[in-house]
Amino acid sequence: MVQLNETTFASYVQARYHQASEGPLTDFLSRRGGNLYLGDALNLNELVARYGAPLEVVYYPQITKQIRQMQAWAQEAREATGYRGKFLYTYATKANFAAEVVQTALAAGAHYETSAANDVEIAHYLWEEGLLPQARLILCNGSKEPHYLAAILNLRLAGHPNVLSILDDLEELEELRNCPLPLAFGVRERAAGNRAGNHLGNNRFGLTGAEIEDVVKQLEGSPHRLILYHAMVGTQIEDSDHFLALLHDSMIAYCQLRRKVPSLRYFDFGGGMPTSGYKLDFKFDYAAFMHRLMAQMRLVCQDYNVPMPDLIGEFGRYTVANHSLFLFEVGHVKAGQQDAPAWYLLNGSLMVSFPDMLLVEDQEFVVLPLDDWDAPVTPVRLAGRRTCDSDDLYPRPHQEPLLLPATGKGLTVAVCGAGAYQQMIAGRGGAHHCLNPEPRRVEAREVKGQLILRSQAPQSKAAIMQQLGYAPSRVAIPLPQVAHRKAS
Ligand SMILES: Cc1ncc(COP(=O)(O)O)c(C=O)c1O
Repeated sequence: MVQLNETTFASYVQARYHQASEGPLTDFLSRRGGNLYLGDALNLNELVARYGAPLEVVYYPQITKQIRQMQAWAQEAREATGYRGKFLYTYATKANFAAEVVQTALAAGAHYETSAANDVEIAHYLWEEGLLPQARLILCNGSKEPHYLAAILNLRLAGHPNVLSILDDLEELEELRNCPLPLAFGVRERAAGNRAGNHLGNNRFGLTGAEIEDVVKQLEGSPHRLILYHAMVGTQIEDSDHFLALLHDSMIAYCQLRRKVPSLRYFDFGGGMPTSGYKLDFKFDYAAFMHRLMAQMRLVCQDYNVPMPDLIGEFGRYTVANHSLFLFEVGHVKAGQQDAPAWYLLNGSLMVSFPDMLLVEDQEFVVLPLDDWDAPVTPVRLAGRRTCDSDDLYPRPHQEPLLLPATGKGLTVAVCGAGAYQQMIAGRGGAHHCLNPEPRRVEAREVKGQLILRSQAPQSKAAIMQQLGYAPSRVAIPLPQVAHRKAS
């Protein structure tokens, strides 16, 4: 139990998270000399001093680190378990389509997983530009409308040998089997989707066992081949026992099918790999997970007397969640009602920058102050001052309030874990809730060992107005000057 009256933020972090206030805090955040760093390289205090807040901060080298680490853990696991199949790291681009994000993942050796027609068109373009090497797999997931099917065929007919359609529905096969060139196929197992039973939305994906049999029959004697078995069991699965237990029946189903279909060579366990991006006390032993995954697959293969498949993971959150964050300033403190915690009103919108705060029950985010770690803490809730929406708050009403330095107005906080899905759901550009403009964005990339920063101006009022059909000149009414009081 933390005694609030004499607790500083530093001692709270020590007591609650067993973390010293200096040194590494997570695998993407550290604190040195009283400054908070992203990727142990980008000084967030300096960025705020230079650009102010709100600010979006993007650190691309983190993506490279995530991918290389996972590839290394998989390699260690292969050696330790005698696993004979390969490991293929695939980036699930739906997590973040930004060109530099995708290209950073490809440069680190990732294969490409698509979720939509336009996604295949991006892959096509990157392949033509030489940025997506031809030897990399392009795995096409999701329910496929005519435009999606056409984009897959187009890529294959343009000569890409490794585009692979993972069937979500038998109807897709009707269209694709007419491809005049041999096509590679995968099947997505429907049973895997909601084996955990906790998300109705997962019930709709993939094929039943009988439908998979039908695919096998239809492909017999055709120039096309079934080479991949896909079993996605969930997302952000932080309990590795549970993750592996959920995959077990899918491994068996793979082996049973492999006995009938010798062309099968990939077992794709989909997404689900958790990210460190959301919790200060996140613990997941990735190396041990890879080891156990391979040991388990090896045993099941032995039982069924089939060769060990190449293993594919489709990494979304794990690849990108922790490479970007937002910095907000407390612009105003409002007392809570009836002994409730105070409101720290931020100069931004949480629900626009982090839509998962609303969409994912119990979603957590790491929130850290940039300064005042020696100041006493106070319980608070954050609210996005740039909307007037009662849902623009964090933590959610059923969650415990945060403890943050009591300094209040003028305090800058980092809200982490913005890199996966958030911007894809909220949209980039355009008009947002309550006309909240997108803040300045600072991107850091590494070139020959040096960090290069690029700053992109905040979204202009004119750009927002134009989206909504207002002539910018008519709404550019000069505002009276209001003095900005600095925090005392
Ligand atoms: C088919 C498929 N693969 C991979 C992913 C990525 O999942 P995650 O972000 O958990 O890695 C998703 C996410 O929805 C998905 O639907």
